[in-house]
Amino acid sequence: MCGIVAYVGSKVARPILLEGLKRLEYRGYDSAGIAVLTGGKLHVARRVGRVANLQEAIEGQAAFDGSLGLCHTRWATHGGVTDFNAHPHTDDRHGIALVHNGIIENYAALKTYLQEKGHSFSSQTDTEVLVMLIGELYEGDLEKAVQAALREVTGAYAICVICEKEPGVLVCARKGSPLMVGIGSDNEYVVASDGAAIIAHTGRVVMLDDYNVVKMDAGGFRTTDIHNTPLSPRVQQLEIELEQIELGGFTHFMLKEIFEQPKSVRACISGRLDMREGRVVLGGLSSFAKELTKARRVVITAQGTALHAAMIGRYMLEDLAKIPTQTEYASEFRYRNPVIEENTVVIAVSQSGETADTLAALHEAKERGALALGVVNVVGSSIARETDAGVYLRVGPEIGVASTKAFIGQVTVLSLISMYMARKRFMSADQCLDLMKEMEAIPGKIERILEQAGRIKRITEKYVERENWLFLGRGYNYPTALEGALKLKEISYIHAEGMPAAEMKHGPIALINEGMPAVFIANRGRQYEKVMSNIQEVRSRGGHVIAVATEGDTEIAKHVQDVMYVPDVCEPLSPILTVVPLQLMAYYAAVARGHDVDKPRNLAKSVTVE
Ligand code: AGP
Ligand code: GLU
Repeated sequence: MCGIVAYVGSKVARPILLEGLKRLEYRGYDSAGIAVLTGGKLHVARRVGRVANLQEAIEGQAAFDGSLGLCHTRWATHGGVTDFNAHPHTDDRHGIALVHNGIIENYAALKTYLQEKGHSFSSQTDTEVLVMLIGELYEGDLEKAVQAALREVTGAYAICVICEKEPGVLVCARKGSPLMVGIGSDNEYVVASDGAAIIAHTGRVVMLDDYNVVKMDAGGFRTTDIHNTPLSPRVQQLEIELEQIELGGFTHFMLKEIFEQPKSVRACISGRLDMREGRVVLGGLSSFAKELTKARRVVITAQGTALHAAMIGRYMLEDLAKIPTQTEYASEFRYRNPVIEENTVVIAVSQSGETADTLAALHEAKERGALALGVVNVVGSSIARETDAGVYLRVGPEIGVASTKAFIGQVTVLSLISMYMARKRFMSADQCLDLMKEMEAIPGKIERILEQAGRIKRITEKYVERENWLFLGRGYNYPTALEGALKLKEISYIHAEGMPAAEMKHGPIALINEGMPAVFIANRGRQYEKVMSNIQEVRSRGGHVIAVATEGDTEIAKHVQDVMYVPDVCEPLSPILTVVPLQLMAYYAAVARGHDVDKPRNLAKSVTVE
C-alpha cells in the first residue's frame, strides 16, 4: 500500500502535492518521490525515508514549480527500500512518469517482453514494468496508451500518469486500490488515494471504480473504462473535515484517537438506540431484515485488530442472539474452500474498507451465495461498496497506524448488530433496553479511564525495559488480551503474546521467569474467580501481574503488583472499556522507547496487497 497525490490546474503543484502526501504518510513511509512537469520538461526527485526528506531535497528548486505533477509515499512490495525503487518511475522513451499503489502480478512476463523490445530497467519494482509498457504502447495519446497497457496487466493498481509530450494532461486509473478525483474550481484537479489529501482544496470528489480511467486537462475531465467506453461518474461530497485529520494539540494521532473514543462511541450509537421501543435501529440493514431473521449461521472475517473485534462480535452473537457464529482470518477463509450453507451471513469488518485479504474473502463469500454485510469505517471504500448492506462505524478518519478508536467502533457496531438480530429472535424489549442503557453510559465510563492516563503511564514505565510480555483474559476479554498484545508489538516492538488465561498452563507458563510482566484482564464477570486462580499461577512463578480490574475491587490489589481500574459494566460490553488501559500502555511504552508511534516500522495503515 502507498499514498498517491497528483495535481493538474493553474497553481504551483508542489505545495499541494507535498502537503497532501504528508497527510497520506500513514499509508506507507519507506520512501517518497515527486515528478513535476515544468517548462515542458519532467523533473523527478526520489528519496528513501519520509516526505520531509524529499521536501528538503527539492527546497528552492525552480524546476519543481510547474502546475502538473504527481507524488508517492511507498510501502515496498517488490524491490528493497532504495532511491531507485522509489516512485515515480519513468519510461525510457517519451518522458512518462507514473506512481502506483498495488502489485502488477504478471510483471515478470511483461518485463521479459519489454526487455526483448530493447527497454532497460533501473529498479526491481513491478511498477517500472507498467510505465515501460505504457511507453511501449504510446502513440501520441497518453490516455489511450494507459488504457492499452491496463488491458495487458493483472493485479491491483491505482495509478497516476503524466507525459512530457502532453503538458497539462493527467491520467489516472484504478483497479483494486483506492483512488479519488477531487474536482476544484476552474478545471483544477487533485487526485489522491484518500480524501485527507484533497479536503483542503475541494469537497467534491469522484470515487473511481475498478477499471475506471480518468483524463483531466484544462478542458475538463472524462471517464472511460479500459476499452475507452465513456462512463458517467457520480460526483459526491467528501464526508471529512480538516480538523479531524489534524493533531489538534496532541503529540500523536494515536493519543488523539484514544482520547476521542468517548466521542466515537457517541457518534456510533447516535440515532441507533430506540429507547421507547426497546430496539436497535440500523438503517443500513433494514432492506435485509427478513434475511437476517432467517440467518442460520454467521461468519465474521477480518484481519488484525478488526479480527479481534470480530471475535468479540462472535461471543455476542452467540450469547445474545443465539446464532452459531465463527470468526476467521480473511486470508485463510479465502483460500480454504469454505462451506457456505443456505442462510449464511458473512460480515466483513474493516476500518479502511480496503484490506486486500478481507476484500478477497468478501468476494469468495458472495461467490458462494452468502449475504455479505460490511462493518466499515471509511465511507465509500471498496468493502463498503461491495457488500450487500452494512453499518458504518462513524468514528471519523483514523490516522495512527495502530488502530484504537476503530476497534472500539467495531465492537460497538457488532454489539448493535447482535442486539438487532437478538431482538428478531429471543431477546425481549426489556432485555434490549437494559443493554442499550449500558451502551449509553459507555462514553462517560471511557472518560473516567482516560482520567487515569498519568497513572497508567507510570505503571507502564516500570516494565518498559522488559522484552517479553503476556496478555491474558477469558471469555469476552480473551480477544481483548490479543488486542493488548498486538498494540504493544506493533508500536513498541516488544514481544508480547495474548492468549486465553486458561491456556497458559498448557505450555506458555514455561516462559514465565522473575519479573516477567503479565497483564491480566480481570474485571468482574462470570470467570472472575478462574482468572484470579490464573493470576496466582503466574505470581507463584515470579511473574509480575498488572491487572485490569473493576472499580471497587480492592481485594485484587493485594494479589498483584499493579492495578488499572475500569468502571463496572455488563460483560458483553466490557471489552470496550478494558481495552482502553491496554491502548494507553502500548502508547506510553512506545513513547518511552523513543519510537515513532504513528508510523511504526515495516507497517502501513491498511494492507492493500494479499
Ligand atoms: C491495527 O492496529 C493494525 N495496524 C492492523 O492489524 C489492522 O487492524 C488490519 O490490517 C486490518 O485493517 P482494516 O481494519 O483497515 O481492514
Ligand atoms: N508494488 C509497488 C512497489 O513495490 C507499489 C507498492 C505500493 O503500493 O506502495 O513499489
